[in-house]
Amino acid sequence: MDNISIEKFIAGIPKAELHLHIEGTFEPELMFEIAKRNDKKIPYKSVEELKNAYRFNNLQEFLDIYYAGANVLITVQDFYDLTWAYLTKVHEQNVVHVEIFFDPQTHTDRGISFDTVIKGIYNALEDGKEKLGISYQLIMSFLRHLDEASAFKTLEQALPYRDWISAVGLDSSELGNPPSKFERVFAKAREKGFITVAHAGEEGPAEYIWEALDLLKVTRIDHGNRCLDDNQLVEELAKRQIPLTLCPLSNLELKVVQDLKDHPITKMMDKNLLVTVNSDDPAYFGGYMNENYLGIAEALDLSKRDITELVINSFKASWLPESEKKKMITQIEVYFENNS
Ligand code: ADE
Ligand code: ZN
Repeated sequence: MDNISIEKFIAGIPKAELHLHIEGTFEPELMFEIAKRNDKKIPYKSVEELKNAYRFNNLQEFLDIYYAGANVLITVQDFYDLTWAYLTKVHEQNVVHVEIFFDPQTHTDRGISFDTVIKGIYNALEDGKEKLGISYQLIMSFLRHLDEASAFKTLEQALPYRDWISAVGLDSSELGNPPSKFERVFAKAREKGFITVAHAGEEGPAEYIWEALDLLKVTRIDHGNRCLDDNQLVEELAKRQIPLTLCPLSNLELKVVQDLKDHPITKMMDKNLLVTVNSDDPAYFGGYMNENYLGIAEALDLSKRDITELVINSFKASWLPESEKKKMITQIEVYFENNS
């Protein structure tokens, strides 16, 4: 028995991350370095000035800056360096499994080939598995502000890399772009064997979560905060144990919640929802996995047992083989016993 602080407890517990946009891990220092070697301009004079621009009132204000930042990524090496920087960072935080998004249209729409994007990311993920022991799954996310035809084209481009991609997702500007807009693309993706997930109920209404479940047949909801507006939906999510990939610091920075003390995660745990903690876009929202856990632990006075349950939820909600899930849950329980 070792009574370590909650901060140390969070830092040491082995974790899985299930909601992470690789483009959202682009730290200003690396952005300036890559811009320089590609002879690309960033409309900010310094790292400090860029960081000062990271103040958002809503999702769209963030997305405008996030897409602009991705403009300097050109070569396979750039995508490799971006992904490798993320993996080394979360390795220091004892993250042992990641299921991450990439947004191909952000790059193909400005003339970068699908092949360039995925090769850089894939090579880094493979190196991460071998050198850092981090297992992974890759999720290709469609940008919902673009049209159905563009999503279909992206799905076509992904087919030669079918073995490298586990799932398709849906992200970007939620309001006005309901899941129903992509019903046919998701049907095609499922036909090709992809798992489906979707961002829903971040800014959009509970109705979008119903659509994601009923029309896109998703097995996981990214965010899902607004499910609490609809009791019947909460019941359904709890009954089916559909995981919600929550992102506390993202919610705070994008004003989905005004204060972490208002974060719905404990209310959701009380309602038997399978909730998980994730970082979304850590370079923009001020924290990776440990900072997200610590933020809610402090704001909501979570115990080590609460943190342990949340960490176990992430492994349950992951796409690891059952044997691996069991092994990790046992390891986490031993960690709890030894450190509480
Ligand atoms: N793309 C990157 N982060 C996102 C978020 N939080 N919501 C929707 N699209 C995103
Ligand atoms: Zn997201």
